[in-house]
Amino acid sequence: MNGLLSPSLMCADMLNLESELKTLDNLGVEYIHLDFMDNKFVPNITLDTNLIKSVKSVLKDMKRDIHIMAFEPQQYFDKMEICEGDIVSVHYEACEDLHSVIGAIRDKGASPFVAISPDTSVDVLEDYLAEIDGVLVMTVYPGFAGQPIVEGSFEKIQAVRKLIDEKAPELLLEVDGHVSWDLCSKMRECGADIFVAGSSSVYSGEDTMENSVNRMYELIK
Ligand code: DX5
Ligand code: ZN
Repeated sequence: MNGLLSPSLMCADMLNLESELKTLDNLGVEYIHLDFMDNKFVPNITLDTNLIKSVKSVLKDMKRDIHIMAFEPQQYFDKMEICEGDIVSVHYEACEDLHSVIGAIRDKGASPFVAISPDTSVDVLEDYLAEIDGVLVMTVYPGFAGQPIVEGSFEKIQAVRKLIDEKAPELLLEVDGHVSWDLCSKMRECGADIFVAGSSSVYSGEDTMENSVNRMYELIK
């Protein structure tokens, strides 16, 4: 399987979101990455639940890849209208009862992923592998676009890949944070499947979206 792309909407032109979404969809991009923050788990706010819901009405083939950086994320599921086809990533560090949060995502017909922040050990994932469809490895500290990659991120991607291959080979491995032109191929070599592309690649503004998306697919083959 080739690498899959999930451009991060928080890095897009906020005044032209509908056309951005349609452009990506028409280019055959698999996912649109939608960051939700509560200003508590992380000190920032980006896309709100209403916008994340509204995105549904514009999408044709592209799927929502919702990344919830918030405590007790289940309180937002109805407002976002979580449904079949969505990826929903919730943070290990943000949930008191992660098993039940994963179950609530499943109940909506969506695909649960567990996200881990840079300081969280890969070992914590073991308890959840049988219940989820993927792992989101944060390669920057969650909350802000445009940060440098955290040291040790490649080793971490490799460690998650190894765990998945040994214990749950059907799971997908997503990477989020400084997925740049320079580093995405190395992330691919380390075993990533889904690439969240933000300010250091497709939203760097150097080229048209079409050229940027094609360049990215070439790098993550
Ligand atoms: C940050 C978000 C990311 C963000 C990545 O907390 O989860 O999705 O958009 O942006 P870059 O690619 O600039 O690091
Ligand atoms: Zn994200």
